[in-house]
Formats: sequence, C-alpha cells, structure tokens
Amino acid sequence: TTADLETEFDRIVQSDQRIEPRDWMPDGYRKTLIRQIAQHAHSEIIGMQPEGNWLTRAPSLRRKAILMAKVQDEAGHGLYLYSATETLGVDRAELTENLIEGRQKYSSIFNYPTLSYADVGVIGWLVDGAAICNQVPLCRSSYGPYGRAMIRVCKEESFHQRQGFEMLMTMMSGTQAQREMVQESVNRWWWPALMMFGPPDDRSPNSAQSMAWRIKRHTNDELRQRFVDMSVPQAEVLGVTFPDPDLAWNADRGAYDFGEPDWDEFMQVVKGNGATSVERIANRRAAHENGAWVRAAAGAFAARTAASEKE
Ligand code: ACO
Repeated sequence: TTADLETEFDRIVQSDQRIEPRDWMPDGYRKTLIRQIAQHAHSEIIGMQPEGNWLTRAPSLRRKAILMAKVQDEAGHGLYLYSATETLGVDRAELTENLIEGRQKYSSIFNYPTLSYADVGVIGWLVDGAAICNQVPLCRSSYGPYGRAMIRVCKEESFHQRQGFEMLMTMMSGTQAQREMVQESVNRWWWPALMMFGPPDDRSPNSAQSMAWRIKRHTNDELRQRFVDMSVPQAEVLGVTFPDPDLAWNADRGAYDFGEPDWDEFMQVVKGNGATSVERIANRRAAHENGAWVRAAAGAFAARTAASEKE
C-alpha cells in the first residue's frame, strides 16, 4: 500500500541511505528534486556566458587555455545534472524549453555583467567558492544520482576556485592599476555572491521540507555564514577588502558578523530583471536554435542505425 511505501521511503531517508530512480518516492519529493536539479543544471549552462565573454580577450595563451577548459567544465556539469534530472522522468529537451521560455529559474549570480578581466578571477574565487560551499553538502543529498553527480562537480569547482585565486594573486602582485581592477571587481561581486545561497531562512519557503527530505543538508543562512567565514581570511591573504562596513569578527559566536544583502535587488534579479537577464536567455535560445540541425542529424542517424539493426 501507499502507506507501506511511504514508511519505506522515510526509513531510507532517515537512515541516510540513498533513494534511487527505481524506488518509490512521494510526488513532492520528485517535484522538488526536478526543480532544484534543473535550476542547478541551467545555472551551469548559463554560467558559461559571463566568463565566456573574456575568452577572446584573455591576456595570454596560457590564461586563454585555462579559461576555455574552465568554461567547458561548466558545460560538463550541466550535462551531468541534466542526466540526473532525466532519471526523475523529464527529458532534457523539455528542460531546455523551460529555461528558454522562462518557466524555470537559474542562479541569480549569472545575471550580472563581466566588466573587467579581473571578473574572471573573482568569479573563480568567490562565485565558484560559494558554489562549493553550497554543493559539498549536496554530495550527501538523499537522491543518489544527484549526490553522485555532485562529487565530480565539487572536485572540478575546487580546481576552478584555486585557479581564480591564483589569477588574482598574480594581478595583486602586478601594477597599482591591476590591484585596483581586482578590488573594483570584488566590490561588485561580493553581495551577489552572498545572494547565491538564497533568501534568508525565514523567507525560504522550500528549506524546511527539503531539509526534512535530506535533499538540502544545511539552511541558506548557515551556508552563507560558512562562506563569509571562509572568505575573509582569503581576502586578507589577497590584500583586498569586502564592501561591508558591518563585517567584523564576533568572538562570542566564533564567526563573522556581516551586513544584510539587498534582498529587493535579489528578488528583482530572480524575477528576470537582472542587468543581463534578457541577453543571457537570448544567447541560450540562439545557441539552441542554431543547434537544431545537429539534433536533427543525430536523430536521423540514430533512427537509421536502429532500422538497420532490425533488418
Ligand atoms: N538565484 C535564483 N533563484 C533562487 C536563488 C538564487 N540564488 N536562491 C533561491 N532562489 C529561488 C528558489 O529557487 C525558490 O524559487 P522556486 O520555488 O520558484 O524554485 C525561491 O527562490 C525560494 O528559495 P528557497 O526556498 O530557499 O529555495 P531552495 O530551497 O531551492 O534553496 C538554493 C535555494 C540554496 C539555491 C538550492 O536550490 C540549492 O542548493 N540549489 C543547488 C545549487 C545551485 O543551484 N547552484 C547554482 C549556482 S552555482 C554554479 O552553478 C556555479
């Protein structure tokens, strides 16, 4: 009976075992996973654009090769995540439609423009740093295909984060103009990076249920705090500051106090009114439409192969 299936589902989740595609799961669990994993996949794919913007202008062949590899890794992450979503009974074509029709979200962070080359380093350091902070606990997510996809994603993200930090270290030991370029970039990205963790816990409608299902392992605010605590010492090593007058060590809490991100701005960006929201979707749509002949050719080839195997 459904009650038995539910008991078994709860037992698996509560004992920290994995729910697999063949297992029974409540409808809400499936829907939540599709929502979160699809958003995550879309973020990886849209996330190729801000950095891709600097591919033709990287200052050396070495930096260009690194950036190209990094952007390709993001495409790979998107593909593992679309595959994980497909195990829940939706297909990638449908998810892509949802993205380009604006029916599904992607991370707010990718709706900001990359105005200087320093942004490439700052995205690696702070944006990929925030992504790791959020995603390492997702390796233990209760849904098997998601948790397993996260392991490789996190390994690659750590490499990206170090790559960004190394690039910024190089710039910080360069000229005064380079140091200023890094600081200016940090000023623009700090608050949007904090927003990546989602709304504050008291305004996060999905957190409680997702934590109960062990899809999420920590709340948005817990992870945001962890990210601040991890980033401050790194900023000191780098020689940059964060644009927050309220940022201060709190010895009682053993953590940094920090100011409130602009949640109105966050809501606007999430609604699709970010500085580059329209451009990001237009680019994605154009890439999809330009790829139609490839999908048609691959489909025709697969059909012919299947037919000749039957003969
Ligand atoms: N950008 C866009 N939308 C967001 C963001 C954000 N930074 N944070 C929250 N939201 C949306 C949620 O998707 C939700 O909307 P929905 O119900 O229409 O889907 C709404 O705001 C309310 O938020 P929560 O109730 O807190 O939602 P949730 O429990 O899903 O938590 C979080 C949000 C933390 C982002 C979670 O979905 C998550 O951990 N996702 C996986 C990580 C991820 O997607 N990373 C992508 C960026 S990292 C990268 O690609 C480099």
